[in-house]
Amino acid sequence: MRQASTTPSRGPRPKRPPAPPPEQAGLAARKLAADLVAAVHGGRMLDGAMEDDGARAAFAALDPRDRALARAIVGTTLRRHGQIARLLGRFIERPLPGERIFLRAALETALAQILFMEVSDHAAGALGVELVANDRASAPWKNLANAVIRRAGREGPALIAADDAARVNTPDWLMRRWTEAYGAGTAKAIATMNLVEPSLDISVKSDAAGWAEKLGGVLLPWGTVRLVSHGAIEKLPGFHEGEWWVQDAAAALPARLLGDVAGLAVADLCAAPGGKTASIAAAGGKVTAVDVNRRRSERIGENLERLGLAADIVIADAADWRGGSFDAVLLDAPCSATGTLRRHPDGAIGKRPGDVADLALLQRRLLDNAIRLVRPGGTLVFSTCSLEPEEGPEQIRRLLMIDAPVERIPVRPEEVGGHAELITADGDLRTLPVHLPNDDPRLAGLDGFYAARLRRL
Ligand SMILES: C[S@@+](CC[C@H](N)C(=O)[O-])C[C@H]1O[C@@H](n2cnc3c(N)ncnc32)[C@H](O)[C@@H]1O
Repeated sequence: MRQASTTPSRGPRPKRPPAPPPEQAGLAARKLAADLVAAVHGGRMLDGAMEDDGARAAFAALDPRDRALARAIVGTTLRRHGQIARLLGRFIERPLPGERIFLRAALETALAQILFMEVSDHAAGALGVELVANDRASAPWKNLANAVIRRAGREGPALIAADDAARVNTPDWLMRRWTEAYGAGTAKAIATMNLVEPSLDISVKSDAAGWAEKLGGVLLPWGTVRLVSHGAIEKLPGFHEGEWWVQDAAAALPARLLGDVAGLAVADLCAAPGGKTASIAAAGGKVTAVDVNRRRSERIGENLERLGLAADIVIADAADWRGGSFDAVLLDAPCSATGTLRRHPDGAIGKRPGDVADLALLQRRLLDNAIRLVRPGGTLVFSTCSLEPEEGPEQIRRLLMIDAPVERIPVRPEEVGGHAELITADGDLRTLPVHLPNDDPRLAGLDGFYAARLRRL
């Protein structure tokens, strides 16, 4: 299919019910936050849970302030999950029954507000208890909830002040891996960056400096416009006109490594929701965007439609798709996404060490097929948003060891705005959350991306 449906909606908009009275709205925001955290405990990805009809209707029923509050509660609960879980473990003698995920989520979200957010402790505590009391399965724990929340208010601040927050909020297995890969100091700094809500980064079709001014953002050296994170992006100038799309500054780099793609046939493998497809299409490439997931592929069409850009969209398994011979191929492979925990803090809760090995195997199959799709002399860029070596440099080391028909083309500093620290000794791109420091932490950092550029022999 060439292009698809309409903008930026993701299906029909839920009907907006009448606004609830203010005290109930406070409760509704907390209930929505607890439901979303419970969904994450139940194994869902937060982004997916937020797209459910129920969550979308609940968001639509809130006024903008409470919508932002619900989002902030979820974000804070997930970013501070290690500290909150430790306190709950201390205050609750017998562990909560494992299946009571809403009860746990209601307590966690209440503690997040009381200990880490600028909200009234009294309101947060009272509404937290009310959430528990109103949920039939949790109601028997109402007195316990009351006691735990009160105790957190009294003893919590002193206890968390003594925490090594970066350490406690990072799963041990990830801390060990990052220490091994990057050294103890950098591992700690990455974990510290993950505690802060990151900036809103925007890729523009043209006139980056003009858009930086219009949006009140800063212009990064490779053209990304960076703003302090913002609730409703649809309200920003230029969104409905399709002048820009949201994309972390680091995520904008792999497509740039393809070089000048104007007029070239480019395959974008594992393309949904289409951030990199948009970059290539905006640069004049004739893109074939391939993704295995039908629903996510529809998002590519929606996003391109809003931007007034075009691509052929193919729903297929990129590990065995034989769609032709391309001048350039970008493989932005599925990965453990440990480089994006700043943006997706739910990832720190759901991931397991075995995920890295499983995904590395899939990446290997995808890479082997991607090489077949590049014409001799053409360019292949392999990227992941993982910090784990198996999902980055080790993939390329294997290819070169088995004499795959490719050679590495090192990334040059001028391709990354002169930031030579983003390039490894082998000439690959390696961005980290600690890169691009800024005195204002809300404007600092990059997602952790790896990218290697290869020429097909
Ligand atoms: C990291 S995301 C891609 C992000 C995208 N490149 C962008 O810039 O917006 C990985 C994507 O890989 C897709 N995927 C996973 N396994 C795949 C496979 N075997 N073939 C094709 N796509 C796959 C997922 O559906 C997901 O959309």
